[in-house]
Amino acid sequence: MKILAIETSCDETALALVEADGSLKYPKFRVLKNLIASQILIHRPWGGIVPQLAKREHLKNLPKIFKQTFNGINFSSSLRAKFKIQMPKIDLIAVTVGPGLAPCLWTGINFAKEIHKKYFPHAKLIGVNHLEGHLYSFLLSRDSDSQFSSEEQLKIKKSLPLPAVALLVSGGHTILLLMESLTQYRKLGETRDDAAGEAFDKVGRLLKLPFPGGPEIEKAAMDEGAGTINFPRPMINTKNYDFSFSGLKTAVQYYLRDNRFYIVRDVAASFQQAVIDVLTVKTKKAVEHFGAKSVILAGGVAANKKLRQNLRKTCRHLKINFFCPSMAFNTDNAAMIAAAAYVNFLKKKKLALRAQPNLNF
Ligand code: KG4
Ligand code: ZN
Repeated sequence: MKILAIETSCDETALALVEADGSLKYPKFRVLKNLIASQILIHRPWGGIVPQLAKREHLKNLPKIFKQTFNGINFSSSLRAKFKIQMPKIDLIAVTVGPGLAPCLWTGINFAKEIHKKYFPHAKLIGVNHLEGHLYSFLLSRDSDSQFSSEEQLKIKKSLPLPAVALLVSGGHTILLLMESLTQYRKLGETRDDAAGEAFDKVGRLLKLPFPGGPEIEKAAMDEGAGTINFPRPMINTKNYDFSFSGLKTAVQYYLRDNRFYIVRDVAASFQQAVIDVLTVKTKKAVEHFGAKSVILAGGVAANKKLRQNLRKTCRHLKINFFCPSMAFNTDNAAMIAAAAYVNFLKKKKLALRAQPNLNF
């Protein structure tokens, strides 16, 4: 099955062409195209994402990357008729319907409807939950920082060892899930205030680092000897699987206020370690309690190498499997939307084609 996927929930305009086959036990994917028009530089001067600016950029970028996806094919119907140009065969068009910014979601949905009608009327058109995109992104392909990629590990095992605990950490969400199968999962806990990525971005702003703060903090934290400040680890010992990061951000704020000559890399590394400790301890607790055989890490914050290393090490100690997407599929992309679309297609799950800004699991 050939899937064309569209992702415009936030500030990245993304399109992907993915080949999918296999069953729900072992779905297989081949990413043929994965294009992203990043808006980071446009939003950077504002220190965050401006929804109307993001919508404007999506409108501008979608036709461009659509053309690029199909190697610059001229789609004018008269030209196609004249030169008998066949449209490439697409079986499924998938578009993110939420969660995200309403004007941005609508832009993607309307574009999907338009190309469906105009170029691929025989394809199925389905809505996808962005969070499920992140959740299934580990199925996509190579994980460059491990000996075996998640895809290769799955190939050896022929299916995901279950139950699995999934940690989804992005700019808008921090969620711990228990998965009984690839499609049966339930939420164990989530953040009560800021998401992990949001905390990275806010602390980045406090440290006057460029937006988004996550990758900048990671870069700053890489220096030798950094990480000497003992910031709090909120909710690390609570009996539930919920998180809270706003107190940690406030602790950083107070530290900066009280230490005028603070060292950026030291604050960055200490903050980063506090977040990683909380995420790792809570994930480990869920694994032990539910006897999980796998951990899945996903979402933009999963791009953080130290977090990946820590969780991988924890899983090795627990003698369980660790899955995470390769670097290209951590932050928002459309290939992951194609992966979720295929899983939903097999499961016959359909989401309404309208923007659902507060969609959750
Ligand atoms: O999944 P994503 O691309 O968008 C949402 O769905 O929210 O996640 C974006 C978030 C941002 O908060 C960004 O700062 C964070 O992921 N992020 C990182 C890293 N790369 C991106 N956080 C920590 N370390 C990174 N290397
Ligand atoms: Zn995302």
